Amino acid sequence: MRIDILTIFPEMFEVFLNTSIIKRAIGNKKVEIKIHDIRKYSKDPHKKVDDYGYGGGRGMVLMPQPIFDAVDDIKTKDSKIILMTPQGKKYNQKEAYNLSKEKHLIIICGHYEGFDERIRTLADLEISIGDYVLTGGELPSMVITDSVVRLLDGVIEEESHLNDSFNNNLLDYPVYTKPVEFRGMKVPDVLLSGHHENIKKFRQEEALKKTKERRPDLLEGDNYE
Ligand code: ADE
Repeated sequence: MRIDILTIFPEMFEVFLNTSIIKRAIGNKKVEIKIHDIRKYSKDPHKKVDDYGYGGGRGMVLMPQPIFDAVDDIKTKDSKIILMTPQGKKYNQKEAYNLSKEKHLIIICGHYEGFDERIRTLADLEISIGDYVLTGGELPSMVITDSVVRLLDGVIEEESHLNDSFNNNLLDYPVYTKPVEFRGMKVPDVLLSGHHENIKKFRQEEALKKTKERRPDLLEGDNYE
């Protein structure tokens, strides 16, 4: 897979791309990720990328020209173009699976008080990562990238994501490591028993219990619409 991210803050991605699983996935050529500075595409002599909104009342608005030119430059016939905005479709694990099947993602990070409405015409999909407003689309684009890359073949063990929270509309079951007892809290006996059937049953029951307690909406099956 290839992911191109369009941003006015490329430096925000340095640590993200050079840490842990994302770094390894890039090193192992499971994904190619390129960060593009929108400013580079500006035709303004001062490399301006934003200006005051017509009609007043708002702050600076991202201009269409640099973003359209960047997309023209990067787009291929396989590209899926995503715009990060709090007005987009709310993101979830099912959408992450869908995106992980694509060959090429182009992610546009909005910023400041907004972006020119015409930029929306570029997008195949507008995504919000939740009902809150961030200062820009950079963190949301990292959320999308992280959640998609971990699903690509060979990035993490498949078993890990088969058991993810939200798979089968269930939250994840609890896990424990050493020591067997810590500050009076014991690892459940069944996990030490070596009895695979009982362990599987325990995990299913715990996942269901936790989901009922914390996220009953997931069991209603309407969370992925
Ligand atoms: N940009 C600012 N807030 C956002 C959000 N919640 N989701 C996606 N993009 C955003």
